[in-house]
Amino acid sequence: MTTIAVLSQKGGTGKTTAVRTFTDVFRRIGLRVLAVDLDPQGNLSDYLDVDPDAAPTIGDVLADRAKPAEAVHDGIIPANLGLAEAELVLGGKMGRELTLKRALRDLRADYDVILIDCPPALGLLTVNALVASDYALLSAEAQYFAMQGVEQALEVIELARDSLNPDLEWLGVVLNIADMRTRHSREAFESLREHFGEKLFDTTIRASIAYAESAERALSILEYRPDLAVDYLNVADELLRRLGMREARERLEALVGSRFAGTSA
Ligand SMILES: Nc1ncnc2c1ncn2[C@@H]1O[C@H](COP(=O)(O)OP(=O)(O)OP(=O)(O)O)[C@@H](O)[C@H]1O
Ligand SMILES: [Mg+2]
Repeated sequence: MTTIAVLSQKGGTGKTTAVRTFTDVFRRIGLRVLAVDLDPQGNLSDYLDVDPDAAPTIGDVLADRAKPAEAVHDGIIPANLGLAEAELVLGGKMGRELTLKRALRDLRADYDVILIDCPPALGLLTVNALVASDYALLSAEAQYFAMQGVEQALEVIELARDSLNPDLEWLGVVLNIADMRTRHSREAFESLREHFGEKLFDTTIRASIAYAESAERALSILEYRPDLAVDYLNVADELLRRLGMREARERLEALVGSRFAGTSA
């Protein structure tokens, strides 16, 4: 059982799309996945087509108004704007950085992977995600300032490790929304490689309007544009290698061979 937080310092780097797509990929290879929406924007809940009125949500759990198990709806703990208020309440509590970790503790036995989608801020919610996780995965948009964003996110990971979660491991950084035909995407890749070496995933995720279109239709890119989905399948393969999940990797290979057959999320 492993918990992974997906984060970035900047907004709009493709975090939620990544969590949404990994949820689909991992479920197709038979892993039991819990997707946790930790962003008051509730994008992950939308992308996964959760009923907007689904209750309770992660905000209710963090504010002690609901039991974690009650907040799981079809393998997702959704979020809505109420999470912004819950974050404020959380700020005044003892053990405020540990609240999500405690909430997920009882659920861990039911899942192989818990994926946490962080908000675009390195505040208390993201700290809760990092304290509750075994691994952190960074997403960086292929832009000129990608480096700085990664460095700032790394500082927060370091902070979580030094204080409350010494076992937290950094899985690496994925260059997202990239157009490798352009010089600025290639330069972003090169500078990340130079600074972070193997921590930079070899696979980059291509920029395509198809991601916004598929999100609008609440479809996974595997269903909507299987040709583009190859990027995420390759990132998932690198991810499983970094996690040492050999059997899951073999199943992923079989899935790719069978052109993504099976159930979907
Ligand atoms: N590879 C891609 N190419 C082009 N657009 C993408 C790609 N991945 C995601 N997008 C689009 O970019 C926008 C932001 O993506 P997403 O919501 O995944 O980012 P995010 O990092 O979670 O954003 P936020 O910081 O607001 O939570 C969305 O409209 C999404 O559909
Ligand atoms: Mg998001």
